[in-house]
Amino acid sequence: MTNLATLTMNPTIDVSFEVDRMFPTHKNRGRDERHDPGGGGINVARVFARLGGNARCFYLAGGAAGAALDVLMDRHGLVRCRIDIDGETRVAMAVLDRETGLQYRLVADGPEIGPEKAEECLALLETADFDYLVASGTLPRGLPDDFYARVAALATKRGKRMVLDSSGRGLAHGLAGGNIFLAKPSLEELRALCGRRLETDEEIAEAGREIVGQGKCEHLAVTLGSDGAFLINAQGALRLPAVPVESVSAVGSGDSFVAAMIFGLASGREIEDAFRLALAAGAAAVLTPGTDLARADDIYRLYAAAKAQA
Ligand SMILES: Nc1ncnc2c1ncn2[C@@H]1O[C@H](COP(=O)(O)OP(=O)(O)OP(=O)(O)O)[C@@H](O)[C@H]1O
Ligand SMILES: [Mg+2]
Repeated sequence: MTNLATLTMNPTIDVSFEVDRMFPTHKNRGRDERHDPGGGGINVARVFARLGGNARCFYLAGGAAGAALDVLMDRHGLVRCRIDIDGETRVAMAVLDRETGLQYRLVADGPEIGPEKAEECLALLETADFDYLVASGTLPRGLPDDFYARVAALATKRGKRMVLDSSGRGLAHGLAGGNIFLAKPSLEELRALCGRRLETDEEIAEAGREIVGQGKCEHLAVTLGSDGAFLINAQGALRLPAVPVESVSAVGSGDSFVAAMIFGLASGREIEDAFRLALAAGAAAVLTPGTDLARADDIYRLYAAAKAQA
């Protein structure tokens, strides 16, 4: 059995609910409130476990919200490996405006982290049992730029595969050292990374080929929301459309995508087939309301439907 470890340096408590209509000033009274443990790596672990895999979450947590996050993770049956911090874990809100169908997502920066936490994490990962390590989410304030690159170097040295899904400096500096098996920027994240507008498919593919060609990662999945995704590696660039679905909430499509891609590989699929499973998972995530993530039966149903179409 393949073991996954995920690393979430800036987790959240994800709160979601619906209002009839969003107004400023007035209280926006909501219903159907949900609380979920969140943050990139934690979300990836949730979907990986739903698919039947073993996942362990390494994450930073602190304060009253940190204690609540632990409880939520236990409720979801997640295997926890917590690193204590002094600050307060953040809370993120997703509010659906029923009248317009628009979803508002409010996400604070999160606490500043002391640089010694980087060493604590690295020491834990040095002996942790995993085959794939997913570092996902923003790199919090206070941690050095090269943190993900150091994590990737550690994983590679141990003969493990490192997956990076981050943005901004976390992505740029994480890729700089190589040692990444799979990176998953969204198109916006890739544009920011390259400092180019990347308007056409050819420009996206070319930017991806450059990154792979420079040895920064072995595989690059560039996700385009409802337009599908690219998979770029030494074999070339493959673009597939999204699996068409009625979108309810976009929360967690990227994380569901990553989880299914690794689960696909871990269960012996070829990379292209794992990529197809990932597209199905991204689509399955938008079917679920609020901060809920992709469900296994939806993933397999959409995967089979897309395959039948192809
Ligand atoms: N509306 C949609 N319909 C069908 N599939 C979708 C839709 N939105 C996303 N997906 C699928 O999920 C994948 C990942 O979505 P997206 O590109 O939005 O990731 P992301 O920007 O990383 O998301 P996140 O907000 O979770 O970080 C897409 O490549 C696509 O396959
Ligand atoms: Mg993302």
